[in-house]
Amino acid sequence: MKILILNGPNLNLLGTREPEIYGHTTLADIEARCMALGAELGAEITCRQSNAEHALVEEIQQARGAFDAIIINAAAYTHTSVAIHDALKASGLRIMEVHLSNIHAREAFRHHSHISPIAEGVICGLGVMGYEAAIRALTA
Ligand code: DQA
Repeated sequence: MKILILNGPNLNLLGTREPEIYGHTTLADIEARCMALGAELGAEITCRQSNAEHALVEEIQQARGAFDAIIINAAAYTHTSVAIHDALKASGLRIMEVHLSNIHAREAFRHHSHISPIAEGVICGLGVMGYEAAIRALTA
């Protein structure tokens, strides 16, 4: 099982970005925890982050054939990007959508996700554990 973990815009700022919402864990910490869990469960984990929508689309296009599944926190693009929706759908891969915060308990503009309709699972509000739950679900 090869899993690509994709993180979108501003998630490189985790640790210092609105810690009351996103906590104090850095993206490097999240990625290290995911790599460790992957090793434990026999999954090969690759982590990528970009602030650019086109770069995320490129990563998704290149994932086809190279990975079995994508765990994606598209951050703000979740709510806006038809391009990322289309790329994920075209990939034919298993898709897990993750958000650190509970997007449904926040502003109305965060309630809609372009990714949820094509995701196998959607996890939000569990912080870092959301990524770990997605890895566990994919390797179950
Ligand atoms: C987020 C939620 C999004 O609404 C927001 O734009 C983010 C992070 C989360 O992980 O909770 O950047 O995806």
